[in-house]
Amino acid sequence: MSLSQDLTSEAIDKEKFANWLAKIPKAELHLHIDGSLQAERLLELAQKNKVELPYSNLKEIEDAYNFVDLQSFLDLYYLGASVLRDEEDFYWLMMDYLTKCRDQHIVHSEIMVEPQTYFPQGVEFRTMMNGFKRAIHEANETWGQSVLLILSFLRHLPEEDAIATLEKADEFRDDFCAIGLASAEKGNPPNKFQRLYQMAKERGYEAIAHAGEEGPADYIWQSLQQLHVSRVDHGVRCVDDEGLVNFLIENKIPLTVCPLSNIRLCVYDQMQQHPILQLLDRGVRITVNSDDPTYFGGFLNENYFALLHELNMSKEQAITLAENGFKASFLSNERKESFIHQLHAYC
Ligand code: ADE
Ligand code: ZN
Repeated sequence: MSLSQDLTSEAIDKEKFANWLAKIPKAELHLHIDGSLQAERLLELAQKNKVELPYSNLKEIEDAYNFVDLQSFLDLYYLGASVLRDEEDFYWLMMDYLTKCRDQHIVHSEIMVEPQTYFPQGVEFRTMMNGFKRAIHEANETWGQSVLLILSFLRHLPEEDAIATLEKADEFRDDFCAIGLASAEKGNPPNKFQRLYQMAKERGYEAIAHAGEEGPADYIWQSLQQLHVSRVDHGVRCVDDEGLVNFLIENKIPLTVCPLSNIRLCVYDQMQQHPILQLLDRGVRITVNSDDPTYFGGFLNENYFALLHELNMSKEQAITLAENGFKASFLSNERKESFIHQLHAYC
């Protein structure tokens, strides 16, 4: 066979692999609902709610989404979320993402909801929840979509704000499985939120936190030892601390890794530098996620495709990643087993 025939057959194999990947039943565990706001919907809601944005068409949005670090992204992310005002807006935000889940075979999703983002616009907790819950109910009834919600707090704000939000959420306690911590990591260490996590634990929430995305490996230790999280969002900076990697392996602590996000926010210059598959092969419970898909150029399947095309992920690694998504979820053991069974039947 000639070199060009070899290359062609390799391309065909990769395309087949990608088609197979796209239909694997998957879980997504790291998704900020505001990060799934589609550009068309953003423009439509800005017009409807009379919010001035620095862009007026899709091309200008695409040009603006050119980030140099986490903060440069967060500035546009909170601006984008400021167009959401009434129940219908929240319904469509959730419904757009859940429709994407159906298209991408994301059979289970654990979605981060950040009420503090909407309070400055005068949006009430109840308004947001009514819209979200209506969409989730409809998706569940129509195609069996499985969803859990995570109450996520903004770490650039004081702990008192987070605690007041936790108390507001008491009315919706049964709608959330866990609490999380997001936003600007540098300068806002996990130990700033110890009282919040203690109060959430007393209320029976599971605990997760973003740590080791831009911040150091020590923030991962703080999340584990002082906030008592059972799962870490991102966590990729664990590679700087061998003892931490061993701890994650021994204790089966999942990391919700977001490859495209890490490239778009310049955590790594190129995908080839990303340690995701090395960590997976060493036995860390790694999962693949999209974080903020409409800002980072891809939903969950596109993240899997990036691992295939840029890191040469094997079929075995893809299956382990998909399996980890269910194992690392907050579903009951019975539901986890049922999804893993569905995954193996497909594979
Ligand atoms: N909020 C939304 N996306 C985030 C990210 N990647 N890191 C921290 N906070 C976020
Ligand atoms: Zn995130």
